[in-house]
Amino acid sequence: MKIVKKGSSNFNQPVGNFQSFNQVANHFIIEAENANIQIIPYSDSIFRIRIALKGQSFTGFSYAIAEEPMQVEVSVTETTDSITFQTKGAQLLVSKNPFRISFFNAQGTLLSEDDQAFGTSWLGNEVTTYKKLQEGERFIGLGEKTGDLDRRGQSYVNWNTDYFAYPVDADPIYLSTPFYIGLHNETQYGVFFDNTHKTTFSFGCSNNRFSYFQAEDGEMNYYLFAGNNVKSIIESFTWLTGRMSMPPLWSLGFQQCRYSYYPTFEVINAAKMFRDKDIPCDVLYLDIHYMDAYKVFTWHPERFPDPKKMMADLKEDGFNMVVILDPGIKKEVGYHAYDDGKAKDLFVSYPDGEEYNGQVWPGWSAFPDFTHEEVRKWWGDHMKAVTDVGVEGFWIDMNEPAAWGQHLPDLIEFAYEGEGGTHKKSRNVYGYQMARSTFEGGKKLLKGKRPFVLTRAGYCGVQRYAAVWTGDNISADDHMLAGVRLVNSMGLTGISNAGYDVGGFAGEATPDLFARWISIGAFSPFFRSHSMVNSRDSEPWSFGEEVEDISRNYIKLRYRLMPYLYSAFYESAKNGMPVARSLAIDYTHDAKIYHGDYQNQYLFGPSILVCPVESYKPFAKVYFPKGKWFNFFTDQLNEGESEHIIEVNKEVLPLYVKAGSVLFCQSAVNSLQKETPKPTLEVHYYAGGDFSFEYYEDDGQTYEYENQKFFKRIITSNQNNEIDFGKVSGDFTSKFNKIRFYLHTNEKISNVKLKQDEFSKDLTLNHENYRWINPVSDFDPYHKPPAKPIELNNLPYVEFDHSTFAFSVIVS
Ligand code: GLC
Repeated sequence: MKIVKKGSSNFNQPVGNFQSFNQVANHFIIEAENANIQIIPYSDSIFRIRIALKGQSFTGFSYAIAEEPMQVEVSVTETTDSITFQTKGAQLLVSKNPFRISFFNAQGTLLSEDDQAFGTSWLGNEVTTYKKLQEGERFIGLGEKTGDLDRRGQSYVNWNTDYFAYPVDADPIYLSTPFYIGLHNETQYGVFFDNTHKTTFSFGCSNNRFSYFQAEDGEMNYYLFAGNNVKSIIESFTWLTGRMSMPPLWSLGFQQCRYSYYPTFEVINAAKMFRDKDIPCDVLYLDIHYMDAYKVFTWHPERFPDPKKMMADLKEDGFNMVVILDPGIKKEVGYHAYDDGKAKDLFVSYPDGEEYNGQVWPGWSAFPDFTHEEVRKWWGDHMKAVTDVGVEGFWIDMNEPAAWGQHLPDLIEFAYEGEGGTHKKSRNVYGYQMARSTFEGGKKLLKGKRPFVLTRAGYCGVQRYAAVWTGDNISADDHMLAGVRLVNSMGLTGISNAGYDVGGFAGEATPDLFARWISIGAFSPFFRSHSMVNSRDSEPWSFGEEVEDISRNYIKLRYRLMPYLYSAFYESAKNGMPVARSLAIDYTHDAKIYHGDYQNQYLFGPSILVCPVESYKPFAKVYFPKGKWFNFFTDQLNEGESEHIIEVNKEVLPLYVKAGSVLFCQSAVNSLQKETPKPTLEVHYYAGGDFSFEYYEDDGQTYEYENQKFFKRIITSNQNNEIDFGKVSGDFTSKFNKIRFYLHTNEKISNVKLKQDEFSKDLTLNHENYRWINPVSDFDPYHKPPAKPIELNNLPYVEFDHSTFAFSVIVS
C-alpha cells in the first residue's frame, strides 16, 4: 500500500544530500540539503558530531563536558562519494549522497554505521539518529537504568523522575546519563548523546533493523568513542565528562540512615549502640525531621536544641553526620532563605516573571535556579547553617526536581548559564547543578577538607561533585539484585561512587534478606543502610543476634579491606575505572556473563569477584570468567570459563579472588576517622598470573594530595611469582611501617626472597591460622551451618619493612 504524503513536516525529514565541505580551525563543516553538520575530531579516539536543521543555530554550551578538544592529527580524504577523517585511533567516513556516517576503529573494523535510509532525521522538532544493528550487537551502559546488563531489545527514556518504591522494571527513574557502549564482533565503541532534553534510546526495541537515540528537541550532538577495550572507552568518556576527586575516607565506611532519627538522644543512642555492639560505623544521617517545618537551612528548635554539641559528641565518638538538603524552599514570608532568594530573584519562574511554586515536604515551595552561577553561590553560602555546626556531609534529595504531582509545567524558565532554557531543556541537569553548588559550597566552607555530597538526580558529569544512590527501592530480593545492576551500570557511565539503600527503603526486610543485603552492600562503593518513616527498625541489631553477627562480620571485613578499597577509589579518580566493575568491562565478549543467571556478578576493585545471591536460595549458580579464581574463604582454586552450582547460606556471600592479583588489608577499626589501624599493612598475594595495581594512600581528608602529599607505588607480578613493588612517589608518610605478605597459592613454597637493588635475602616463612571473619557457628552451638567454617588454615606469610624503595618478593 502506498501512503500519499501531504505536507512533508508530518513525516520524516532527512538531512539530505551533501552540498559543500570546508574546514574552520579544527572543525569540519559540511552543508547538506536540509542541515548543517560539524565534525570535530575531539581526541585520537573521539569524534564529535553536530547536526542542526538549516535555520537552527548550534548552541554552544554543555554542562557535561569537562575538556576542550585536543589537538588531533587528522588526515582527510575526499572523493566524489565520500570524505574520510582518519586519526590515530579511529576513522570516520561520511558518505555524501545521502549524508551518512560510518565509524571504524584504528584497525579499520566497522564499529557503527547509520541506517542507510534514515541516518539522522527529524519529525517536527524531534531529532533522531538511527544506527544499523550489527550482527550479534549488544548494548551496555545508560547508567541508572533498570533491566538487564545487555540492553538489546529494550528502550529507555531519560527524564529525571522521582519514583517512590519504583518497580524493578520502572523507567525512567532519578538520573540520566545518555551514554552507552555497543559491542559486536569482538569490537566495542561508545556513544554519548549530549542533549539534555527528554531523550529516548532504543536498542533494537520492537524492530530488528536499527538502534536509535532521539531527543524531543534541541540539537543532534553526539560523540563517538573508539577503543581497544571497554576500559579505554570508559577512560575516554570520563576524560571528556570528568571524574570524581578523592572522597573523604570516612565516607567509605558504613553509613547508617533512617527517615528520621530525632530528637538528639535518638541520634546519640544509635551512635552508642554501634560502639557498644562493636559494629564499625562512620556516619549517621539526619533526614527531613531535623529541620524546622522542613525548611532547609534551619534546625528544629525542640528536637535539636544544641546541634553543635551533638555534633561535637558524635565526632568525639568517631562519627560524622550527613544532613539532608532539599531544593524546595518553603514559600513563607519571614523565613530567611525564602526572603533572601525572593529579594535577589533567584527562583525559577514562569515566562510572565511570576515565581513558580510547587508542593514538596514544606508545602508550597520556590525552587532555586541552580543553572545560574549566582544561585549556586547563594545556596553554597546558606550551607553555613549546617557547616557551622560541624556537618561535613550533604545529602541532596528531591532534585529531579520533585513536586507533588510530578509534572512540572514545561514552560517554566531557567537561566541555563545565560543561554536560557525551559523545563524541557533544564530538568535533567537541575540535580546535577544542585550537586555542583553543594559540593563547591561545602568545599569553600570546610576550608580545605573534602565535603561528601550524595545526590539522587544527575546528568553526565555529576560524578565530579557527588556520589549517587538509587532512591526509594523496596525491601525485596529482586530489588537487591536490581540495585547491584544499577550501580554497576552507573559505573559504566562514569559514576563510580554509587550505592543503594541496604535493606530496602520501602517495605520491611526479613532477617534473611537484611543479612544477605548487608553482606552484598559491604561490596558496594557507597555503603548505606536506610529505611522509610514508620517502618520497623532496620539497624544491623534489629533483626536478631544472628543477623547482627553477620552484619558485624561483613562491615568489619569492609573495614579490613579499606587500603584496597581506597586504592580502587584512587584508580577511579585517576582514570574513571569504576569501583564496582560489571564483568562486561574485563570479559566483554564472553557471552556467559550476560546470561540472566550471571549478569549480577561483578568485580569489586580489580581483584574480588562478588556473586550476589537472593536470600532465600540454598543454592546459587556462579560463573567463573577466564583465569582462575580462589574461594575467598577457603582458598580453594576454581578453573575459569566454568559454571558451578554451589551451596550458599546466609553467613557466606560467594566471593572469589582472581589468581594473579593482590588485596591490601589493615587491622579492623570501628571508625575510620577516629582510630588508626595497627602499623602493619597486609598484602595478600594470590598467585597465578600477571597484574599491575597501584597502591595509594593519602591523609584521607584534605586536598593536600594535589600537592604531592600522597604515597603511591605500582605493584606488578608475573607468572613466575615475582612481585615487584615499584618505588614510592609522593611526600606522604604511610600509616604502615611493616608489610605482612600473605601467600595464597596451592603450590608448595620452599623459599621467599626479598630483593632490593644489589642485595637479596631469604625471608622466614611463618604460618598462621588466620581468619577473615568469625562465623556465627563459632559461638552458637545450636547453629549448624552447611558451609565449612570460614577460615584460612596455615596461610604462609613473610614480614618486612614498608620501605619506599623499589623491591621485589620472589616466591619459589
Ligand atoms: C525521599 C528520599 C528518601 C528520604 C525521603 C525523606 O523519598 O528518596 O531517601 O528518606 O525522601 O526525606
